[in-house]
Amino acid sequence: MNLLGMDVGTGGTRAVLINDQGQVVASAASEHASFRSPHPGWAEQDPEDWWRAAQAAIREVLAISGTAPSGIGAIGLTGQMHGAVMLDTEGRVLRPSLIWCDQRTDAQCDWLHEHIGRERLIELTCNPALPNFTLTKLLWVRDNEPEVFARIAHVLCPKDYVRYRLTGTYAMDVQEASGTLLLDVTHRRWSSEVARIAGIDEAWLPQLFESPEVCAHISAEASAATGLKTETPVVAGAGDQGAGAVGMGILQPGSVSATIGTSGVVFAATAEPTKDPLGRLHTFCHAVPGRWHVMGVTQAAGLSLRWLRDVIAPGTDYDALTAEAAKVPAGSDGLVWAPYLLGERTPHLDSQATAAFYGITASHTRGHLVRAVLEGVAYSLKDTFTLFVELGIPVTGVRLGGGGARGPLWRSIQADIYGYVSDVLVAEEGAAFGAALLAGVGAGAWPDTDAACASAIQVAEQIAPDPAAVKSYADGYKIFRRLYPALRSIREEA
Ligand code: XUL
Repeated sequence: MNLLGMDVGTGGTRAVLINDQGQVVASAASEHASFRSPHPGWAEQDPEDWWRAAQAAIREVLAISGTAPSGIGAIGLTGQMHGAVMLDTEGRVLRPSLIWCDQRTDAQCDWLHEHIGRERLIELTCNPALPNFTLTKLLWVRDNEPEVFARIAHVLCPKDYVRYRLTGTYAMDVQEASGTLLLDVTHRRWSSEVARIAGIDEAWLPQLFESPEVCAHISAEASAATGLKTETPVVAGAGDQGAGAVGMGILQPGSVSATIGTSGVVFAATAEPTKDPLGRLHTFCHAVPGRWHVMGVTQAAGLSLRWLRDVIAPGTDYDALTAEAAKVPAGSDGLVWAPYLLGERTPHLDSQATAAFYGITASHTRGHLVRAVLEGVAYSLKDTFTLFVELGIPVTGVRLGGGGARGPLWRSIQADIYGYVSDVLVAEEGAAFGAALLAGVGAGAWPDTDAACASAIQVAEQIAPDPAAVKSYADGYKIFRRLYPALRSIREEA
């Protein structure tokens, strides 16, 4: 039996086909139009474009693999989290989706904290209101486009809209739902209290499932559009962070991943919902039934490096830039990067934060700038490890993922800055791979997610921290920790 994982990302949709040993058979991708930003801080995409890309990726993966549609045992969906997709009674899209990185809803966050109470909101949903979360986006539409709000009949997240087009079913998994701010994360059900106070009709919210559960089947219409077989089961899946964690085997309490993509995430599986009373970490249901996770998010991780490259060395490839950085000593001779290009989530929860280089001298080179960016992103992710220590969240091992795990330099910088032996996996295929594993559990290829990961995931290399570098980074981290408060006070006094 083969299994199909679909990742409705920000840049594009990816389809990954695996076999029931967990090996990748084929993959295909189709790009999305870039998100629109009609005002600074806004980010919108068209759900119809995700559906177009999904159809293209499915047709291509079927064609290149030569797989018969009847050989696909189940499909799992994942995607960019938090986006608000608003549909009318006929299932028609009412307006473009406000996606995860849209930052326009500070006023709606304040409204929620005033009307529910910040502490009560954290008690109910395990999280405070942040502009990233879906509910705040719905309230922006309430406040600014009441005619659209009045016609809402269904609310979905991006991958769940693609599910709706594939199956005609409105459904969501509890991991994704955790990022809407409408879920009672502790009890894994919608929070009637939050919905009532926020004026969200509970009938708009889709039925909830655990991630590996079959929740829908491919419709005749979608079969004609994609080549998939009618009635192929579709499991609930998970948001990209939840499915990505499954794809890296981060399932047991104590296991932690550090993934650097556009944004960077440190993710820990937990046995219980572990809340940060200050709301600096996200506390969500895991894609594994009966487990939870916490995660800290650095908004501009890989994006910091891309930004620097585009500004100082457009067109240069990353390997050439990191080769220059590798010649610079650990600590970049005192140059430190504070990576707040897109505001920051963990630990500062400050959508207005801005980035800075500290300590530039005439002897610094381009290699120093690059190395300082690699180190600054890792310091920012270390802030999440620091919170784990403060909150008593265990860390028994760290796995590195995403672009930050591909080259030797960023890997070793991470191991040295986090101070943990860090694993790199044999094949790290991202969230679509995790969604395919969840599909395999739903289809009975494995009894549960633990068994799926045990059969599919292997460690290729373990990177031990280098004691001399650990020491110099400990000094650098002390300076890094002082940068955000200093930058903030400059901003507030300006
Ligand atoms: C998670 C988050 C991002 C998006 C986009 O909280 O905002 O990972 O899911 O990938």
